[in-house]
Amino acid sequence: MASLISSWASQVNTVPERYVVPTEKRLNVNVPIGKDIPVIDLSHPNSALIAEQIIKASQDYGVFQVINHGVSQELIGDVLEVCDEFFKLPIEDLEKYTEEEELSEFEPNLDQKPKLYIEKEYKPKKNGKNDKEVIFWKDTFAHCTHPTKEDRINSWPEKPAKYREVIGKYSEGVRKANLRILELMCEGLGLEKDYFANELSHIQYMAINLYPKCPDPTVTAGAVEHNDGGVINLLLQELGGLHVRRQKDGQWLAVEPIPGALVCINGMILKVISNGKLESGIHRVATNSVRDRISLGCLTSPSCDGKCIIEPAKPLLSETNPPKYKSFSYTEYLKIFFSDTSEFEAALNPYKI
Ligand code: OGA
Ligand code: NI
Repeated sequence: MASLISSWASQVNTVPERYVVPTEKRLNVNVPIGKDIPVIDLSHPNSALIAEQIIKASQDYGVFQVINHGVSQELIGDVLEVCDEFFKLPIEDLEKYTEEEELSEFEPNLDQKPKLYIEKEYKPKKNGKNDKEVIFWKDTFAHCTHPTKEDRINSWPEKPAKYREVIGKYSEGVRKANLRILELMCEGLGLEKDYFANELSHIQYMAINLYPKCPDPTVTAGAVEHNDGGVINLLLQELGGLHVRRQKDGQWLAVEPIPGALVCINGMILKVISNGKLESGIHRVATNSVRDRISLGCLTSPSCDGKCIIEPAKPLLSETNPPKYKSFSYTEYLKIFFSDTSEFEAALNPYKI
């Protein structure tokens, strides 16, 4: 097995070559904190006002934080504890979830078994040549959390003993928050509030990331700059490390960890459905030399059954707002998403009008 980074990271004091990011792609680990990245209170009684804040944040950053989202502080604490315990299980327990020699990507389909993997980045160039392959400084454990079927839950870890209960409760709570945010986006865009309540939000999967303490954060990346592929990602970060690129000027800013808050990262599908009105969040992750960092993403995605069609929402289109994207199959798009990371939103290029 290409060993999990967490199994050896604490024993090295230099970064092995395969994990060193080429100079031109290194990230500045000391970017300023984005004090203006909105923190939106979902319990505010005026939903039109919240919707407006979400639309503005989605245009300025494609990212915002939410508080009073319905998932309790206590449950968040339990989830972080369970995730920490999971990654500390003996290697024999963790190896059950790894596959080949070189651990590969998680495929977001319903039958995907829980999977523990490392993530690599190589950027296919237009001339067909690949850059150097880099392995990110993180281990990720992912599985589907919705729709939940008994046999699917039975494939979730039995250890730690509380895993299924806590992750089940948490992912249900986050799904509700996610759907509520989508309703508010619809309100702000002028769409029926249930526009996403169908195959567009059919799947939720969870990615638990462990970024081990790193001997030299300046040469590694927890994740290089990217957009998420689905509709929306609600992320829990207990320690800073997530950076967001401001849309207007490309300035990178750190997202401040706020206890109890969740970070909402718009995926590229939102950009298409809103016909470009909502940005998808460009983000990356810096490592740190102080302590391990855990983050938990809950990604709401369209159905991957091959039938789900993505297109700009018809009610938004007019003579003055013609479609910016052709209709496309979500499954076909995903193939491009996983293979072409040559630039931001590369997976949308074939569909641009
Ligand atoms: C991701 C991601 C951010 C983080 O997994 O796609 O961007 O802070 N994670 O871990
Ligand atoms: Ni991401």
